[in-house]
Amino acid sequence: MNDIIIKLDNLTKTYGKGKTSVLALNDVSLGVAKSDFTFIVGPSGSGKSTLLHCMCGLEEPTSGKCFWTGRNVYAMSDADRAIYRRGNIGFVFQMYNLIDELTAIENVVLPCFKNSRKDAFKKGVELLQYLGIKERMFDFPVRLSGGERQRVAIARALINDPEVILCDEPTGNLDEMACKNVMSLLNRLNKEDNKTIIMVTHNAGLVSDSSKIMRIESGAVMQ
Ligand SMILES: Nc1ncnc2c1ncn2[C@@H]1O[C@H](COP(=O)(O)OP(=O)(O)OP(=O)(O)O)[C@@H](O)[C@H]1O
Ligand SMILES: [Mg+2]
Repeated sequence: MNDIIIKLDNLTKTYGKGKTSVLALNDVSLGVAKSDFTFIVGPSGSGKSTLLHCMCGLEEPTSGKCFWTGRNVYAMSDADRAIYRRGNIGFVFQMYNLIDELTAIENVVLPCFKNSRKDAFKKGVELLQYLGIKERMFDFPVRLSGGERQRVAIARALINDPEVILCDEPTGNLDEMACKNVMSLLNRLNKEDNKTIIMVTHNAGLVSDSSKIMRIESGAVMQ
């Protein structure tokens, strides 16, 4: 039995108040085992992004608890949570969330704290090369296409070699070739380096036999 690396207990998330409030997550309890590759699937608006944001410490749930290897995430101070997240979790945002004022490579190395600046730059360039956008590394995000931005966001999520990688539709804007590259990178990180990966996708074709699937509908997870 693998160790549980992320655990959610009766998690509920409501956005807003009163008549216009939205129940995005409805009493979600689940565990993610170390080294699992888990896909999250479900209709648009079903709560997939909200679930990932709550899991990674970015969105405080309205009720319920989230644990990282037994540590109560939202009981930590904001500073402790940020430090833990930076050291252990890589996150690929659905909307990329790149910093417009920084070049592609600057975005990638920004969160790096494990290496010297020189080593971080070298690793960042390697990641961008693997992802097929090295030649655009000195461009600002505004000059990059959606798929190029997406790959910069993936490189940034991997720069600290995190144990857990959460990806919110990381291939949504990629062509077949780039999608294949990203999937083989994620599969390699999972199989060879035992990284725990949780990935939201609308593309059922990406779900492999060895992976787990979590289905979410109207904020409820059916495992
Ligand atoms: N900041 C917010 N304020 C208010 N409502 C929100 C907010 N973020 C999300 N929601 C609502 O919560 C629900 C779940 O949204 P979420 O973004 O998690 O869905 P999703 O499954 O990721 O959808 P998609 O596949 O389109 O990305 C939706 O009804 C959405 O409108
Ligand atoms: Mg989403």
